[in-house]
Amino acid sequence: SAKKFRSAVGSDTSNGLFGNMALYSRVSGSVGLITLQNPPVNALSAVVRQSLIDLMDRALSEPEVKSVVICGQNGKFCGGADIKEFRSDMTGPPLVPMIDRLELSSKPVVAAIEGVALGGGLELALGCHYRVAHSKTRLGLPEVTLGLLPGAGGTQRLPRLVGIPAALELITTGRHVTAAEALQLGLVDFVTDHNTIEAAVKLALSVAGKSLDSRRISTCKCPRPPYADALFEEAMQRVRRSARGAIAPVACVQAVHAAATLPFARGMEQEKQLMATLFTSGQARALQYQFFAQRAVSRWSTPSGARWDTSKPRPVHKVAVIGLGTMGRGITVALAQAGLSVVAVETHEKQLMEAKRVVSGMLERGAKRLGAPPALDKINYSCEIQAVADVDLVIEAVFEDMVVKKTVFRQLSAICKPGTFLFTNTSGLDIDELAAQTRNPELVVGMHFFAPAHVMKLLEVVYGRRSSSQAVATAMKIGKNMDKISVAVGNCSGFVGNRMLRPYLDQAFFLLEEGATPELVDQALEEFGFAMGVFRMSDLSGLDIGWKVRKAKEMVSKTHQDCRYSPLGDLLCERGRFGQKTGRGWYQYDKPGGRVAKPDPWLHSFLEKYRAQRGFVARRIDHQEVLERCLYALINEGFRILEDRIASGPEDIDVIYVLGYSWPRHRGGPMFYAQMVGLSRILEKLEYYHQLHLDIPSLQPCSLLRKLVANGRPPIHKWVEVIKNPHSHL
Ligand code: CAA
Ligand code: NAI
Repeated sequence: SAKKFRSAVGSDTSNGLFGNMALYSRVSGSVGLITLQNPPVNALSAVVRQSLIDLMDRALSEPEVKSVVICGQNGKFCGGADIKEFRSDMTGPPLVPMIDRLELSSKPVVAAIEGVALGGGLELALGCHYRVAHSKTRLGLPEVTLGLLPGAGGTQRLPRLVGIPAALELITTGRHVTAAEALQLGLVDFVTDHNTIEAAVKLALSVAGKSLDSRRISTCKCPRPPYADALFEEAMQRVRRSARGAIAPVACVQAVHAAATLPFARGMEQEKQLMATLFTSGQARALQYQFFAQRAVSRWSTPSGARWDTSKPRPVHKVAVIGLGTMGRGITVALAQAGLSVVAVETHEKQLMEAKRVVSGMLERGAKRLGAPPALDKINYSCEIQAVADVDLVIEAVFEDMVVKKTVFRQLSAICKPGTFLFTNTSGLDIDELAAQTRNPELVVGMHFFAPAHVMKLLEVVYGRRSSSQAVATAMKIGKNMDKISVAVGNCSGFVGNRMLRPYLDQAFFLLEEGATPELVDQALEEFGFAMGVFRMSDLSGLDIGWKVRKAKEMVSKTHQDCRYSPLGDLLCERGRFGQKTGRGWYQYDKPGGRVAKPDPWLHSFLEKYRAQRGFVARRIDHQEVLERCLYALINEGFRILEDRIASGPEDIDVIYVLGYSWPRHRGGPMFYAQMVGLSRILEKLEYYHQLHLDIPSLQPCSLLRKLVANGRPPIHKWVEVIKNPHSHL
């Protein structure tokens, strides 16, 4: 719209100068217009910063120019600092003095904010004297999500502008706000539905020559409510509780505290010092790695050569969901919210009515949150599978039972119109076996959602041996439409996420046998940063679910001679201890459905008897052993998955674990963590534990791990080269 406006007002193009990565022009005679140009998000790279300084100097030096407007090209103000620059030596002029100089300008500077103003982008706008935003803009200081703090004055200017409570919340969470909320907070001065630059220029013309004394945020006093101390105390407790060991949110509180208690210049010094610690931290590296990994997974490829850039998705308008249990309901909501027509099918009338009630409630609550009407009319409910005859795509979410699923797939293949994609939400069953039930196995793909399906960001898109690249591309596209992050993975038992979980859970059980308690194991994992340890999670999701699967696989009745198997979960289930739902599991609860886990003396004495009967001698187990055994076994399986080409790179695994399994984001993901710990150390420890437990094959180091160590432990982005070229010598 900058371009449109310039031509509308007849910009002084003869004076226009194409700055490198920023454009200067004169509009309405006396307004200097600086347009940031650095696609895709106009990030403040070194060159952009230099151009901005040069163009600002030019605007100040031209006597005809009375005020300045800064905007971004292509309807995006600025996505902040260029994150890619963080890992190399910083060059170019630093942001802080640049923004300070902008604020000191004798001519008024107006930020014309469209699209996004995030991080350094918003800090730049805070250095301006006025802020005009388009109604569709999102603003925020998301640095905390990258392991940083808003280090270009954001922690000092924002509280001065919007007050301590709002600043604390925005800076410690990194939450984006809408333009409407920004206006309410006082973060912007004016919101328009029309041409933002036009509105900004109008404002710039009206304030030309007026005093800027009250408009320089750094010179304002930070409003300090009488209860400020309690506020900081409470904020510190809140972030320590929710940060799960992340250091950036704590530093953010400290920096805002500095704004509340120190003069601006000293506050800026504090901000700088805190930022310096964060900037070089492993956590910042991990979080920035996750940021790029979550974007990299959309560029998927399969070992057979199908790729994101050569595979075209087919348009999908109407989708059927089969089975409206826990998952089917969430999937129906996610599809309807993405604007798709849904045919929702359940076998029993009663179950169908219940599902309809629950889905409508979920949609209504979602609509309230999003401020949009609920998409109730997008869904047609039916007890008849024939209702799916004209859909473009089916997502099956019936019981996790191969026999039931096979029947459903045979039915679908007969009923659906030719070309209908048949996707399954199985959490680990064989996609090829299901595909084999259909006339067109190339249309079958796994679409593994995570519970609750309308909330969780992750989708594992599982391609089978015969899945077409178009089917995979369509699943990835539908995932994007539902605002999910989809990772394409190969077909194997448990796919990526659940396959890696198996050895992790096994280790937790074995540790109980060897002397640990559920409390000890959970505490170690929660201190590491998981939202919940193995046993609290098992109590929450229900012990009976895994029990059913193990019984179906005949693991429960089998004798396990060479390979260690812990029947502890089965024994608890046999005693009716299914977890929270029965009020007893690995812990005790005050009632069935209770949520507060308390240590259970019964369980402790049960474990003692169990150990005595089976010849285990309890020993002292410390947190370090819990972490090494559980996490390194999981990581080892991750290397096997890479070696088997089930995941195309470590980023895929790390995104799955952070988004689907509550792996602490500030630790990057299991494979990134392995690199941080050091591959030699992981190998050494696995060898050590495997020697002690020869009956646990999952502790045997995988050959890819050995190869990477032998290859001189290449950095994570080079692992794929070693996988693709077994003879590689990096
Ligand atoms: N630096 C470098 N690259 C960036 C970037 C940034 N700040 N923001 C986005 N990109 C890149 C992405 O990596 C992606 O690249 P690929 O196409 O190669 O994958 C591309 O721009 C498009 O990004 P998205 O796919 O995320 O596009 P979107 O339209 O869905 O979202 C966005 C746009 C909301 C701006 C989102 O990209 C985003 O949240 N970016 C990060 C914003 C941020 O955290 N800024 C703070 C930076 S730190 C800072 O500013 C520190 C400071 O105080 C000095
Ligand atoms: P659920 O038991 O809650 O729901 C299954 C539903 O399917 C029931 O309502 C049942 O009546 C219905 N159903 C059974 N046969 C049917 C048929 N032939 N036609 C129509 N409806 C039929 O099960 P849940 O938990 O929703 O799981 C469904 C699938 O999702 C399973 O494959 C499961 O492995 C997978 N999954 C489950 C997750 C979870 O956390 N619950 C997570 C990810 C995947």
